[in-house]
Amino acid sequence: MPTQPQVKGLLLAGGYGTRLRPLTFTGNKHMIPIANQPMLFHGLRHLAAGGIREVAIVLGPLHEGIPEAVRNGDEFDLDVTYIHQGEPKGLAHAVLCARDFLGEDPFVMYLGDNLLQEGVRPFIERFHQSPLDAVIGATPVQHPSSYGVIELDGEQIVSIAEKPRNPKSNLALIGVYLFTSKIHPIIADLQPSARGELEITEAIWKLHGAGGRIAVRRVDGWWKDTGRPEDLLEANQRVIYGMPPASFAVRGQVADGARIMGPVSIGPGSTIGPEVQIDGPAVIGSEVRIDGASHIGPGTAVGNRAAIHQASVQRSIVMESAEIQGPFSLVDSIVGRFARIRATQDRGLRLSCVLGDSTQLNF
Ligand code: G1P
Repeated sequence: MPTQPQVKGLLLAGGYGTRLRPLTFTGNKHMIPIANQPMLFHGLRHLAAGGIREVAIVLGPLHEGIPEAVRNGDEFDLDVTYIHQGEPKGLAHAVLCARDFLGEDPFVMYLGDNLLQEGVRPFIERFHQSPLDAVIGATPVQHPSSYGVIELDGEQIVSIAEKPRNPKSNLALIGVYLFTSKIHPIIADLQPSARGELEITEAIWKLHGAGGRIAVRRVDGWWKDTGRPEDLLEANQRVIYGMPPASFAVRGQVADGARIMGPVSIGPGSTIGPEVQIDGPAVIGSEVRIDGASHIGPGTAVGNRAAIHQASVQRSIVMESAEIQGPFSLVDSIVGRFARIRATQDRGLRLSCVLGDSTQLNF
């Protein structure tokens, strides 16, 4: 058997995209927790599960926390290096910056703010099936003009355009691509687009024009570009609901009387009071305190050292060291690190909010 070329990984964690509005969370967006794990970790795990060993993380100006958390990648069974992109000037610019690292090897480029249920393995398998210059993922979306859009006739590519005003199809390019080194000279020739970026979509279109063999994978399962708070919440729920039963473990202290229903993870050092009910699937970090008549609903993630007293928390992301003091109900909400919500009287409130890091809300 001929040996298959090694596929490298390029994980983009700079500031990309017009949908990436600044959220109220400090630090790098890719460190926002999804199911209590920084978003970026999910991408790293997908790359490792695809059989990739060498990964470069491309960092933008706001990168604190990433090298500190990922280090050399040992924890993910990866060999991770870092590339500083400086001012992010587009996805193709990130590839340009990674030129030395990539050498002549094929590579998977994964946008760190995308989450893809099936991961990258199917892309790599497709690449190994027949000689190809690229494998790109696509999936139908409701608002294609916010994405790269591909028009197909059967398997044949008819057109590809970045955020077209009048999309020719509803098939969006997702943020996972596999390329061979054929893409490099094309990228080297690109000119900035109207939004001032070197567009990977344009490079793909040119690769097609140059006779490049491109397979379009319609992704199975869900895909989420986490550009908006509601996307983060949906991704959080989907990841939690998709976690294998064996990954849930109760390691904290659960008082007699507390009701833990369904798959629930409780990290070490956490304490769950006697009147608490937790309905899984839910993930509770370490050193978390939940007490009073609190109710944690399915699809909720509570970060390390958070405290919840006398509150109902449903379908929400509560980040580390946040404090929630009821009585009230928190639904479909994101509570930033060290944020504090406090009810001063019992009004039976049902609250849905996005609260930035270190914000205080008293009502
Ligand atoms: C980028 C790509 C776009 C693709 C999208 C997927 O968009 O340019 O083609 O559909 O990622 O998330 P951006 O995030 O830069 O707006």
